[in-house]
Amino acid sequence: MKLEKVLQSQGFGSRKHCRALIEGGRVRVAGQGVDDPEREVTLEGLDVEVDGTSWRCREKVYLALHKPVGVECSHAPSHHASVFSLLPSFLVERGVQTVGRLDADTSGLLLLTDDGAFIQRHTSPKWKVPKVYEVTCAEPVTEAQLEALRAGVVLADDPSPARGDAQALAERTLRLTITEGRYHQVRRMLAAVGNHVVALHRTAVGELSLPQELGPGAWALVTPLAVGR
Ligand code: URA
Repeated sequence: MKLEKVLQSQGFGSRKHCRALIEGGRVRVAGQGVDDPEREVTLEGLDVEVDGTSWRCREKVYLALHKPVGVECSHAPSHHASVFSLLPSFLVERGVQTVGRLDADTSGLLLLTDDGAFIQRHTSPKWKVPKVYEVTCAEPVTEAQLEALRAGVVLADDPSPARGDAQALAERTLRLTITEGRYHQVRRMLAAVGNHVVALHRTAVGELSLPQELGPGAWALVTPLAVGR
């Protein structure tokens, strides 16, 4: 593939813009300056540097973001900043999307990718990908509430019960693992058993736990295997 096209595929701008970047001496490949936009290269694994930004090219990209509270999973947020503002612009430009959504006031592991099949697989209830939440409640969590969550609760607009694996962590906190992603599901499940969520944090999706070293607002590349492809 031509170098200008590889850069375009990675989100560094239109083909014309990428050609100008290369001709302007702003691109290095494997540490060497290049000036030929039509140079033939192999996309996967190609190390480029564009205006000082180093990047290993890949066909598809998978990211784990530690979503902080107070940001929205939307390109056009209504009340807060967008999660996309936490990523470098070339990743946004190449079209990464969130794999499902977290509420603005939920923190924790959010996956993003430009692999549409991966998004479909991880958001469809058919595949039962587990999502693990640490839930802090306003009231003490009772054994009866935990049992009701495990047995399944009916949410207002949906007759099929929503259930999850519920384990107490402390007096007012529990770990809840669900395999669907209905609207406000965890908050509504806790409301249905007579409690109220005051803080919600996602710790894992599929095989992937939120990396400890990833602070709020930080992101890292992950391999699809790590999220159970
Ligand atoms: N359930 C919720 O209620 N909110 C989230 O953000 C995720 C799951």
